Amino acid sequence: MAEFSLPANSVVKKGKVFNAPNTAKNIKRFKVYRYDPDDGQNPRLDVYDIDLETCGPMVLDALIKIKNEIDPTLTFRRSCREGICGSCSMNIDGINTLACIKAIGDIKGDVNVYPLPHMEVVKDLVPDLTNFYAQYASVKPWMQTDTPPPPDRERLQSKEDRERLEGLEECILCACCSTSCPSYWWNSDRYLGPAALLAAYRWISDSRDESTGERLDELEDPFKLYRCHTIMNCTNACPKNLNPAKAIAEIKKLIVKRRN
Ligand code: SF4
Ligand code: SF4
Ligand code: FES
Repeated sequence: MAEFSLPANSVVKKGKVFNAPNTAKNIKRFKVYRYDPDDGQNPRLDVYDIDLETCGPMVLDALIKIKNEIDPTLTFRRSCREGICGSCSMNIDGINTLACIKAIGDIKGDVNVYPLPHMEVVKDLVPDLTNFYAQYASVKPWMQTDTPPPPDRERLQSKEDRERLEGLEECILCACCSTSCPSYWWNSDRYLGPAALLAAYRWISDSRDESTGERLDELEDPFKLYRCHTIMNCTNACPKNLNPAKAIAEIKKLIVKRRN
């Protein structure tokens, strides 16, 4: 259920300030959300002044520098550092994106870094994605078939059928889209959100899958699918330039089509 007032212990307070060394030549200020559920304190915004002459070009480089050289308690997820794994998604400069492909040079003024919005925070920049992953699993993101495979080869697909998966199968499950969606903010307990729906449409679109009817049955639900009001935040947020809003619209069209 939507809650319209902030609990007192969620108000973000001023935090610590870590100044750059006197020798620093090119200082950029990073304001980073910090929260530790175990210390009983409110979240706070810590300030780190970083010398860009000694830092890599991306926001993730700065976070790694902070963790390695200034404050080892800072917690965030990352793995591939090249926009492939989806781990380093966070809200930077007011936009959900991947820290490893967000250039510091593209940000005017201070760099504000928060966790993905409207999620429970595990610690600092790490949101709890348990529900997000459960919703992904609920659309059964794997091939389902009734007929046996050919005895001498894998299940083949024409070039045209494979091309229908372009723009769908590249999703890295970063959650930037779902956590930018107002409908998902208020109804994430029942609305599947753009990432899970894009995955559902990816399998609906696969010529080898034989469960299209069952998949559409599962999605034909006022909350799971129809909480999408085509606000488009999801598509604007996707760092892989995918279009979950279009995928959702295509699912709605298929449901209408099969009624006629
Ligand atoms: S288009 Fe739908 S899924 Fe995307 S942000 Fe809007 S309501 Fe959410
Ligand atoms: S659709 Fe884009 S924003 Fe959404 S989870 Fe996939 S890659 Fe991330
Ligand atoms: S570290 Fe893998 S996407 Fe950023």
